[in-house]
Amino acid sequence: MSTVVETDVLIVGSGPAGASAALALSTYGVPNIVVTRYASLADTPRAHITNQRTMEVLRDLGVEREVVAQATPQHLMGNTTFCTSLAGEELGRVRSWGNDPLVQAEHELASPTRMCDMPQHLMEPVLVNAAVARGTRLRFQNEYLSHTQDADGVTATVRDRLRGDTYEIRAKYLIGADGGRSKVAADAGLPMGGQMGVAGSINIVFEADLSKYTAHRPSTLYWVLAPGATVGGIGAGLVRCVRPWNEWLIVWGYDVSAGAPDLTTEYAESVVRQLVGDDDIPVTVRSSSAWTVNEMYAESYANGRVFCAGDAVHRHPPSNGLGSNTSIQDAYNLAWKLKLVLDGTAHPRLLDSYTAERAPVGRQIVTRANQSIRETAPVFEALDGLSPQTPEQLWANIAARKDATEAAEKQRAKLREAIAFKVYEFNAHGVDLNQRYPADGSAAIVPDGTPDPGFARDPELYHQSSSRPGARLPHAWITSGTRTLSTLDTIGRGRFTLLTGIGGEAWVRAAEAQEVEIATVVIGPGQPYEDPYGDWARLREIPDAGALLVRPDGFVAFRHAGAGPDTGKLLAEDAGKLLTDALRRILGHA
Ligand code: FDA
Repeated sequence: MSTVVETDVLIVGSGPAGASAALALSTYGVPNIVVTRYASLADTPRAHITNQRTMEVLRDLGVEREVVAQATPQHLMGNTTFCTSLAGEELGRVRSWGNDPLVQAEHELASPTRMCDMPQHLMEPVLVNAAVARGTRLRFQNEYLSHTQDADGVTATVRDRLRGDTYEIRAKYLIGADGGRSKVAADAGLPMGGQMGVAGSINIVFEADLSKYTAHRPSTLYWVLAPGATVGGIGAGLVRCVRPWNEWLIVWGYDVSAGAPDLTTEYAESVVRQLVGDDDIPVTVRSSSAWTVNEMYAESYANGRVFCAGDAVHRHPPSNGLGSNTSIQDAYNLAWKLKLVLDGTAHPRLLDSYTAERAPVGRQIVTRANQSIRETAPVFEALDGLSPQTPEQLWANIAARKDATEAAEKQRAKLREAIAFKVYEFNAHGVDLNQRYPADGSAAIVPDGTPDPGFARDPELYHQSSSRPGARLPHAWITSGTRTLSTLDTIGRGRFTLLTGIGGEAWVRAAEAQEVEIATVVIGPGQPYEDPYGDWARLREIPDAGALLVRPDGFVAFRHAGAGPDTGKLLAEDAGKLLTDALRRILGHA
């Protein structure tokens, strides 16, 4: 055993959760070390759908442009196609990932960012490079083995896989971002609900020029309904675009009770041939690996000074593309809290809000992703294809939909309906953006006494903005001089922000008097920021002289309408007391 290495935060894992935790902490000036088991970052595409909320996080962390530059853009993502093979019959399409014109408008109204397709082997280097440039110390081939904790910190034992010896890292906090088989979560004894190993899946990464079958219906996902496609897996066979239109990843199921098949190149090529359906196209298989569909979530994300994020605490299939998105958002939720506790601004109690806010989200996305698999079955049912006796029978059932009979017309309608219902997987804007942290769950949110407005439309499909405490700050385009920017561009960077308008001077003075750093944003005619379209006035849900206190992660923590008890206008001392009391609660001092 050699010298003990010291840091403020030790992060285990360099996947989306660990890399973004490191990036946020380094951006906020918190010393941190990442240890990661392997000699490189992700070497396969894995997660890819990157939603607007994650892009907002990346925008705040200063890497949005780099991600956009490398990602496949939104307009090439959205014709999710159901077919018998890429070269075979097409059964229908779903406009996806914000590419339905009506949904596209909703995306534009909801956020300054756009969805994109950023495969994990490209995303991780962007996050890690920026983190290291800002101060993260990264150790490849260093494997977390165990930890102990006491009142002042955590001591982790780590094996240097290059040298073969072990050493200790002493940190004030430990983040377990070590993925779906998290040893940190197990060692911390985090209680888990649900089930691992629900179904078996194989990923096959390959190269082939498939533009002939894809460029005219550009998409990230092509679903194949073919014999064997309902065995295990994620609902059907999947050909996923990694880079248009020559890098691909197939997901194909296997019977988990029988164990994974022998993943020879010949086997992988046979699956590719079946799903592509054109033997004349040259194919190069790059890798194949087996994994299982899980339906598991942690009830608590922390034990003492140990916090877990990402797949360590929510394990689910790739449906809805929620894996790395949720992992990055977990890390973003945790990082500012650690920073404020470490620099003495907040009481460690603030960290309790991490589980309170993120565990319900984790549970929700695990449920959603698994439900999406089950919702593929009606597509097969519409073709009488759930358990045909022979492949010939399946093809005959599929062909029957072309008949000029009443039964075939009914079948066509059923198929259209089943495919259209898949918007819950491929266009679920609300799942991406409607996260709310209720004040009765999280002490880092101050209730304002208003009733929960609920959702006017389906909360999974449609985003609904709100400035009520616990909601993400609404996006509106505002101006500052000749510059047009989003309200979301005025917040973040590790600080609280207070937004007010004309008549809100008392709030500005109150914010400036606080010990914790609060940026102030005054929006109105003749003010530093103006609202030429009136969008902000429509979305803010408070009068001009009201105030919103926004946390560093973009969630509204406190809201006040701005009227004083007697004068109708808020006095400086009233605003000062209201803001101080709110911050005492948010920062865990109350
Ligand atoms: P992630 O698993 O990415 O990272 C864990 C990190 O911890 C790694 O860096 C690992 O080396 C490190 N680590 C583990 N144990 C360690 C130890 N003891 N010591 C040190 N380091 C340790 N999702 C999706 O949305 N679409 C998809 O198509 C896919 N496909 C897919 C394929 C495969 C093969 C996998 C493994 C996963 C997917 N996923 C996916 C899931 C998606 O990749 C996943 O949700 C995110 O990567 C989760 O990010 P995390 O950072 O939490 O874990």
